[in-house]
Amino acid sequence: MKAFKRYLLTAALPYANGPVHIGHLAGCYLPADIYARYLRAQKKDVKFVCGSDEHGVPITIRAMKEGITPQQVVDKYHAIIKDSFEQMGISFDIYSRTSNPIHHKTAADFFTKLYNDGLFEEKETEQFYDEAKNTFLADRYIIGTCPVCGNENAYGDQCENCGSSLSPEMLINPRSALSDAIPVKKKTTHWYFPLQDYEAFLKQWILVDHKDWKNNVYGQCKSWLDKGLQPRAMTRDSNWGVKVPLPAAAGKVLYVWFDAPIGYISATKELTENWADYWCREDTKLVHFIGKDNIVFHCIIFPAMLKAHGNFVLPDNVPANEFLNIEGDKVSTSRNWAVWVDEYLKDFPGQQDILRYVLCANAPETKDNDFTWKDFQDRNNSELVAIFGNFVNRTFVLMHKLCMGKVPPLHEALLDATDKKMLGEFDLCKNKFENLLGQYKFRDALFEVIDLARKGNKYMQDKEPWIVARQAGEDGLPNAEAQKLIDNTLHICLQLTANLAVFINPFLPFTAQKMLHMMKVVDKMLDWENAGKTKLLSVGYSLRAPELLFRKIEDAEISLQVEKLNQNKIQKNMDTEKSTAKENADPETGKGKAEIVYDDFAKLDLRVATIVSAEKVEKADKLLKLEVDLGFEKRIVVSGIALHFKPEDIVGKQVVLVANLAPRKMRGIESNGMILMAEDKEGKLYFVSPGEKIDEGSAVT
Ligand code: MF3
Ligand code: ZN
Repeated sequence: MKAFKRYLLTAALPYANGPVHIGHLAGCYLPADIYARYLRAQKKDVKFVCGSDEHGVPITIRAMKEGITPQQVVDKYHAIIKDSFEQMGISFDIYSRTSNPIHHKTAADFFTKLYNDGLFEEKETEQFYDEAKNTFLADRYIIGTCPVCGNENAYGDQCENCGSSLSPEMLINPRSALSDAIPVKKKTTHWYFPLQDYEAFLKQWILVDHKDWKNNVYGQCKSWLDKGLQPRAMTRDSNWGVKVPLPAAAGKVLYVWFDAPIGYISATKELTENWADYWCREDTKLVHFIGKDNIVFHCIIFPAMLKAHGNFVLPDNVPANEFLNIEGDKVSTSRNWAVWVDEYLKDFPGQQDILRYVLCANAPETKDNDFTWKDFQDRNNSELVAIFGNFVNRTFVLMHKLCMGKVPPLHEALLDATDKKMLGEFDLCKNKFENLLGQYKFRDALFEVIDLARKGNKYMQDKEPWIVARQAGEDGLPNAEAQKLIDNTLHICLQLTANLAVFINPFLPFTAQKMLHMMKVVDKMLDWENAGKTKLLSVGYSLRAPELLFRKIEDAEISLQVEKLNQNKIQKNMDTEKSTAKENADPETGKGKAEIVYDDFAKLDLRVATIVSAEKVEKADKLLKLEVDLGFEKRIVVSGIALHFKPEDIVGKQVVLVANLAPRKMRGIESNGMILMAEDKEGKLYFVSPGEKIDEGSAVT
């Protein structure tokens, strides 16, 4: 094994086009953080870098959707993402962003070096162009009918309905996502990186020299390499990104997958003057933590770029995780099927470690895995609370009750086999832990720690110090012999507690801090050199009262979350239904939609109703709960208009209600009907009302 002097850990730069969800955390940020904390506890020289990926099509698409500029998009989400990471205890040494000038310069210089070395091949090709908007269209900007499943809204690179990977040429009736115009082909020039020239090198470096990489990673690399590598364009036609540093390249930027990984270098530069020690010396261990969709970029393309440039270390490992599904379904931001970290933090304040625990215990290390709220509750209640928390709590309570709140002495002569076995487990755990973490097996290492706590509970149960204490002497206190046995048990349990703090620290840092407080010791106790030691707390030292390390999660909290998830989906569906209605309209006249017969219309029961009360729906920004009077009855209607109207302003308004719409539940509230709204070009909403006040329940025909 190579001896490394320093460690450079990177976690994939998240696109600043939305908040982070728990799949992101489980995929790379959490394992990277655990690893960083573990190395720091070992007093290794570690730099852990990350930042926002602020370029590329994902950002410009988001800007289009939200009707704001790309800069506004990245400013907004960079702040949200950074804050989520901080609160979750992801201990980056720096969280930077690729819009920083230092990054633009680093990426442009990197490109220039390769350009000056004559590496790029300049090629003219034909690409889709939107004449209405005067711009080339990246694959994602071209929408059309999927040749596989017939979905009319497939993207030029992928159909989200059937999952087929596509190219724009394959779409039937392609149209521009920007203008709906039919794209034309137009010539454009780009700079291609000759990936194929690195094939032999990559085959040796990965397939021969890195058989130690995880199976999922190795397998994906092998399949790419077996297929053969092609030249890859490293520039794009766009105005958003790092400008191509060539005179004849107006309107061209670096391909986002060229610039983003260089972001790791820029972030290190921003962090320390000694950045080159971490990037340019063979005794640095570089590890990229990523999700599986990033494997080809980190194992093949970026290493080839680094190799072409020269002077850079290559990753020693790329321990990519697979995907985390939610309640049996693939995470989808467009369907809003996700658990957002910023929302979790609001819903479960102070409970970061539960999420860290569950995501690590369930980490998709070797295959896709599922997150369910039920499992979240079970793991918390039956592992964190019932095993780990319970052991620490019992130990502290009994120490206060039977040992005067102090660390009791150890009476060596009285140690029996059970005691010795328990003491021996500390070091065994340490060895297993180190071995597992060395292989990036975070889940298994975590289970070892929980297992050690489980053994602690069993030991305590076998020893029953509370029963021993009943062997009272004449004064009602335990006799001297009994007290010695009690001392031994609690001494061992306390030293075990100290070990548990050391072991759990990389995983659950907030919990480790609480334990330090209870034991009245400083951070230094968490140094890895203390792992496995049996004399961490000094005899006679008085400790604080126990604090609750974990609280139970109640059924109600879980059903609320499940409902919220389903609600997100419904709200999303409502939004898409609305936009499909708009899309179906004729773009010229704003009217349109296919012709219908009178009977279609006659099916609707439209009625005049008066809003009698209105209130916001908790934890749903867009929803108002309305009570409407129909004359013959009053009804509850949930309406997605909260961003447009204040509840107090609309009470008394007369509106038109679709009265025979099937009821549907939103946020646990049954909605009975839909209020008609008119929407102008700016997206402002207006009620549709009768010209003057009329009887409630009047039919609109
Ligand atoms: N933004 C990319 C994603 O979210 C990851 C970029 S990783 C980097 O999939 F290496 F390019 F930075
Ligand atoms: Zn399809």
